[in-house]
Amino acid sequence: MLFRGTLMILCILHLSAEARTAFGTDRELPNSTIKPGFPITVKTDDPGVQQAARFGVYRYNNRSNDIFLFRESHISKATLQVVRGLKYTVNVDIGRTVCTKRTHPDLDRCAFQRNKTLRQTYSCYFEVWITPWLHRVQILASLCQ
Ligand SMILES: *[C@@H]1O[C@H](CO)[C@@H](O)[C@H](O)[C@H]1NC(C)=O
Ligand SMILES: *[C@@H]1O[C@H](CO)[C@@H](O)[C@H](O)[C@H]1NC(C)=O
Ligand SMILES: *[C@@H]1O[C@H](CO)[C@@H](O)[C@H](O)[C@H]1NC(C)=O
Repeated sequence: MLFRGTLMILCILHLSAEARTAFGTDRELPNSTIKPGFPITVKTDDPGVQQAARFGVYRYNNRSNDIFLFRESHISKATLQVVRGLKYTVNVDIGRTVCTKRTHPDLDRCAFQRNKTLRQTYSCYFEVWITPWLHRVQILASLCQ
């Protein structure tokens, strides 16, 4: 089970119906200065980027059948687009940790595997759409290989 999909893991490519309709209407646009815009490159150490990467990792772990949790090891690129909230794209490497899913640990405290057999890294692309005023986070795309 652990070594299934060493070549390629196609987690999810998912655009929810809810997201599609929301993009097409103004009903969720708050009374603010927020205007839709083009994606801009943002610093990889930006707290919003790190949060978006973590949301992607949660999704990855939720969908994987690995007994261990993965977490982000390196964010290589990120963009932000203001569109009914904040839409991040994040290119991030994730690595297998020593923490198992069963124990529900704090991911920040999980060390990466050092055992050569278990060590594993995937390169992921996540699209994370955060609508703060609705307290909503949607993963629009999650692709790891
Ligand atoms: C919302 O927009 C209206 C019209 O532009 C303005 O009068 C009102 O003060 C705004 N409300 C807030 C909370 O910004
Ligand atoms: C994934 O998330 C869903 C919904 O929150 C939850 O019901 C399910 O148990 C999770 N699965 C795993 C493997 O964590
Ligand atoms: C590494 O992990 C494998 C698979 O679980 C195990 O068989 C092996 O004993 C481990 N090696 C070390 C040095 O812990």
